Amino acid sequence: MALLDGSTELFGIIGNPVRHTLSPVMHNAAFASLGMNRVYVPMEVHDVAQAMSGLRGLGFRGVSVTVPHKEAVMPFLDEIDPVAERIGAVNTLLLRKDSAGRTVVRGCNTDWLGANAALAATGLDLRSKRVVVAGAGGAAKAVGFGLRQAGAEAIITNRTEKSGKALADWLGCEFLALDDLAWVQADVLINTTSVGMEPDADGIIVPPALLSKFAVVMDIVYAPLETRLLREAKAAGCKVIDGLAMLLYQGAEQFRLWTDTAAPVQVMRAALEEELRRRAEH
Ligand code: ATR
Repeated sequence: MALLDGSTELFGIIGNPVRHTLSPVMHNAAFASLGMNRVYVPMEVHDVAQAMSGLRGLGFRGVSVTVPHKEAVMPFLDEIDPVAERIGAVNTLLLRKDSAGRTVVRGCNTDWLGANAALAATGLDLRSKRVVVAGAGGAAKAVGFGLRQAGAEAIITNRTEKSGKALADWLGCEFLALDDLAWVQADVLINTTSVGMEPDADGIIVPPALLSKFAVVMDIVYAPLETRLLREAKAAGCKVIDGLAMLLYQGAEQFRLWTDTAAPVQVMRAALEEELRRRAEH
């Protein structure tokens, strides 16, 4: 990290918990590699209203917002990007001064771009592709929204039918029970649930026997980096995308919004991998 001094610009992440967040590693590596005098710090926030006035008062320039504040932060913003408004969640804040010296805070959402960019990076053209999205939480909503924007056909599947159907209705797409996946034909499977995450790394959202029908299988779980889902998918001949990809590409878009500079994605990816290795050793 660069030496901090009087002109260091402040960036960070608000959430609760943030103890294990990988975002600082990714963004600080990006700033350092481009010689930018900026620093990105994790901030555990319990009171969003107080945190927002703190960020304004302290002159922060850009902030990531994570669970559980992505919706709660919205009433405290001066401007909300129309896409973030439609999704109903903000994961990125941009702070600037207006001509009168007042701080203006704009909220955006880059989560929905993360999965699309991760899929596009494999060379996949999403138009008219059928994509099964497992899960119905915030991550599934962002992924499903992105797929629709890219012209793909999403199919939502979820353990709980009620929330799965509600998300499918919001997206204007089909809902399928997990048990009915055996009958579906699709090109891509994306797991947005926590199934397969340590300490339950044996978990898998879809029976392994079904995986061979997907050309691409993507997981958003990154602990472990090779989940059972990805291991079985690889063995079944699928192209796989690991859980760092979505984190990386939503972060790359944040970086672009904050700096007007293309993000050094390879540097960011290497920093994330190194941090995961470091954590595995300890
Ligand atoms: P996020 O906002 O990060 O996406 P979330 O809102 O907690 O997280 O959503 C978690 C998703 O993982 C849900 O779709 C949940 O399914 P339910 O709606 O049935 O709760 C899914 N999930 C979590 N644990 C699961 C498990 N053991 N089996 C199947 N689905 C699971």
